[in-house]
Amino acid sequence: MSPHKLSHYANLPANPVVAVAGVTGAVGREMLLALEQRSFPAARVKALASARSVGKRLDFNGPGAEGTYENGQGYLVVEEMRPESFADVDIALFSAGSALSKEYRPFVREAKAVMIDNSSAFRMDTDVPLVVPEVNPADVWLHQGVIANPNCSTIQLVMVLNVLSRLAPIKRVVCSTYQAASGAGAAAMDELYEQTRQFLAGEQLTIQNFLHQIAFNCIPQIDVFMDDGSTKEEWKMVVETRKILHESDLALAMSCVRVPVLRCHAESVHVEFASAVNVAAARELLAGAAGVSVIDDPAAQNYPMPGLLAGTDDVYVGRLRRDPSVTHGLAFWSVADQLRKGAALNAVQIAELLLAS
Ligand SMILES: NC(=O)c1ccc[n+]([C@@H]2O[C@H](COP(=O)([O-])OP(=O)(O)OC[C@H]3O[C@@H](n4cnc5c(N)ncnc54)[C@H](OP(=O)(O)O)[C@@H]3O)[C@@H](O)[C@H]2O)c1
Repeated sequence: MSPHKLSHYANLPANPVVAVAGVTGAVGREMLLALEQRSFPAARVKALASARSVGKRLDFNGPGAEGTYENGQGYLVVEEMRPESFADVDIALFSAGSALSKEYRPFVREAKAVMIDNSSAFRMDTDVPLVVPEVNPADVWLHQGVIANPNCSTIQLVMVLNVLSRLAPIKRVVCSTYQAASGAGAAAMDELYEQTRQFLAGEQLTIQNFLHQIAFNCIPQIDVFMDDGSTKEEWKMVVETRKILHESDLALAMSCVRVPVLRCHAESVHVEFASAVNVAAARELLAGAAGVSVIDDPAAQNYPMPGLLAGTDDVYVGRLRRDPSVTHGLAFWSVADQLRKGAALNAVQIAELLLAS
């Protein structure tokens, strides 16, 4: 057991009861899949969502499934999330939005359960560790009941920066994101399908989940604008990256853009180092890093692409090259399924860390 482990939460059972709050959403469904695929040793999995979803059956074959269909496929039955839902829960995976995370935190705490939260509600709180298991696993033990999952684009970025920082200290990072529609939730993904159909049929577009048309368009605004002209998504990437890497002065400049891709965020990144780095060494380090895969063969026109990587777990890196605009610089392109490593998978890996120690 980690020496930092707090006694209040020290006795998580080997087979915990796990609640998935927001189970019917884009992230929640992937959480079920991650629990199932990784054979997470849950005694039981509670599927929680709004009153709208009560009684829905969700396919689930992992440990803790509630029942099976005639064909042997397991399922969970969705229950309404209520304060008392957490009374018998050990680990609560939250992906129902910031407001509900804040509202339910006291009930999770009362149940002495650990909350692993996907929303931005607590990420920058000093008593809440912000954890990417491949990058800062030890931070998990600083928790006082809540562990935050970073923003999806942040996770994707720090997975690579953490590896590259072994080459030389990083001085500055400039990153542009190309973020998929599903990053705004299940309804937003449906809206991309529907707008695409409407666009092709010459019909009026229905715009509900985005600020503007998303089909056949790019929107250079994710979340609200801050006083300095950046968006909150860009600000989150800056402050979260510093917190995870424990580099409070790291210089970062972000531009976050929503693109008409269903799943998988992409990032174009330029990194300036304090001393010399070389492309071959970077490629070798990245290729050997847990959770990172290199697809980088310009001769074969092979590089990571969002349309081809949905449902995968790694952060894929390609187009690795020198950035000639600075003395010691590298540039690369990365793609990751933001519903997997950017959200559900990372949260389940945090739960695994809690059990492993
Ligand atoms: N999408 C991503 O790529 C991504 C990545 C990282 C983090 N996140 C964060 O994860 C959270 C969820 O995102 P999402 O994309 O999965 O959203 P989503 O697809 O819109 O899902 C929202 C979930 O919250 C549930 N919910 C809504 N109101 C509720 C209530 N009153 N009580 C209980 N459950 C309620 C919904 O249940 P019903 O179906 O019953 O309405 C649904 O299960 C957000 O905080 C988001 O910022 C998302």
